Amino acid sequence: MVLGGSGLVGSRVLDLWADDIELIAPTHAELDILDDRALTAFLTETQAPVVVNLAAWADVDGAEPERGNRDGRVYAFDPTGPLCWYAETKLEGEQGVLGSSAQACVARIEMPFSAQPHRKQDLARLCLARLGRGEPMVGVVDQRITPVFLDDAVRALGQIKEVRFTGTIHVAAAGWTTPYLFIRAIAARMGLSADLVTAETFADFAPKRPARRPQHSWLDVSCFEEHFGRDILRGPEAELDAWVEQVSAT
Ligand SMILES: NC(=O)c1ccc[n+]([C@@H]2O[C@H](COP(=O)([O-])OP(=O)(O)OC[C@H]3O[C@@H](n4cnc5c(N)ncnc54)[C@H](OP(=O)(O)O)[C@@H]3O)[C@@H](O)[C@H]2O)c1
Repeated sequence: MVLGGSGLVGSRVLDLWADDIELIAPTHAELDILDDRALTAFLTETQAPVVVNLAAWADVDGAEPERGNRDGRVYAFDPTGPLCWYAETKLEGEQGVLGSSAQACVARIEMPFSAQPHRKQDLARLCLARLGRGEPMVGVVDQRITPVFLDDAVRALGQIKEVRFTGTIHVAAAGWTTPYLFIRAIAARMGLSADLVTAETFADFAPKRPARRPQHSWLDVSCFEEHFGRDILRGPEAELDAWVEQVSAT
């Protein structure tokens, strides 16, 4: 069962898994996951052997004014150090699922970017749109990030599901970049003007956002590589090559 199947990540999971496995994907309207009773009834009725939960309110800045609004149960924090409300509630979710009796895995993904059109614009498609219109973009130069090509992330989730991996695992690019380098790499590959991209420091960028963010949010994928090899998660350059190939074909 896939929850959040209309989302950026969920819609690609449905696309790429549909041919191989039988999927049940209730919409938000059909099943509100905050409704405990409805969720339990749905799980009992369907008896799905695996539940992949991609449902979330995934707007980091939009979540900040909601601080304090917490549906469901509250769990003790571990020393992870979340900086904003989105992160605090994500952590509670992680602890809830890992502390439950279910055979559960928390897969943390970072900045998935897709070649497929979706109502939610990820950083790569935002670059394409803005630079394509000749509009300037600002990229942070001193922030390490590991944006993951969504198709790679979905393949990684497929492996995790296949072996019923339990515990916490990172699904991200196998190597870090910076927003500035990432945006310029897209411009270079797509024949767009890299002169439109200006550099900014994290110290200048961060105070302009409603939610606090970590300067370095890159995720270490060594645990994933140890269990599943090095063929699925790629470095930023190889990921972007694959992304460009798919964007150019669509
Ligand atoms: N996108 C990113 O940059 C990013 C980065 C790191 C981690 N993540 C994590 O990756 C996961 C997927 O994110 P995403 O970007 O795919 O999110 P998304 O595009 O915003 O999609 C969220 C999905 O959750 C559904 N949903 C929201 N509230 C629900 C509820 N109460 N009951 C049932 N369904 C509900 C939405 O359905 P409706 O649209 O019908 O409401 C939608 O299908 C999330 O856990 C997110 O925190 C995302």
